[in-house]
Amino acid sequence: MNFDELVAPLGKNKFFGNFAKGACMLIRGERDRFADLVSLEEIELRINDGCNSLTPVQMIGGGQRREIIDKQLAWSSVATRKTDLLQMLREKHSFIMMNMSQINPRIATLIDSIEAAFPNDRVQADLHLYVSTTADASGYDAHRDFPQHKLYLQAVGSTHWQVFETTRPLASDVRAVPAEEETDCLRLVKEFDLNPGDAFYMPPAVFHKVRNLQGPRLSLSIPFANITNQDVPRMDRTYIPFKELFEGKS
Ligand SMILES: [Fe+2]
Repeated sequence: MNFDELVAPLGKNKFFGNFAKGACMLIRGERDRFADLVSLEEIELRINDGCNSLTPVQMIGGGQRREIIDKQLAWSSVATRKTDLLQMLREKHSFIMMNMSQINPRIATLIDSIEAAFPNDRVQADLHLYVSTTADASGYDAHRDFPQHKLYLQAVGSTHWQVFETTRPLASDVRAVPAEEETDCLRLVKEFDLNPGDAFYMPPAVFHKVRNLQGPRLSLSIPFANITNQDVPRMDRTYIPFKELFEGKS
């Protein structure tokens, strides 16, 4: 899958027209089009590689996220406390895996093509996997992300979205609003479900809240932002055919 296929059926020109206006975009697509981008087996492999991941899994609870790691072991400072993590999964916590833009060659190609779709900018993108193994799992408080834009792909299951505007000016460093303060400073402006194959684009700083009400879900959240420093190269996602090299076939 590439960027053009991702923004279908809306189309690239309409996407960039709305993008320039700073508008959110809901793109309804074919049901199975994101189903094979990341497999459950790939996630299981990563989540069990509990001491070798460069970026640990983070569990979502109390409206926020945190790492569940041991920092003082002899051989690793990022080893996941897997018994605790398993327990949290059983207690309906969602989790996020960041730095996943090279989890497999299909994803690397997609993220490369998103970056290349902005030829005049210096856009860099990542992939965050949001995973819930049960319905109605934990989620963040209403929050706004910046400076990054967001492309959000619903791969498996569905998510319920609420998009808000502020009813009064908030300090620029306020990124999240606890549930009990929502009515005080936020007004709901959009509410919808994302189903498999649907995508949603959101510009920076839009308040939103996402829950999976109906079952397990796998969502691919792609943050991207302009890197203005001319000296920063894009990530090199070249595939290394290790097995073929080892076996003398490449
Ligand atoms: Fe967010």
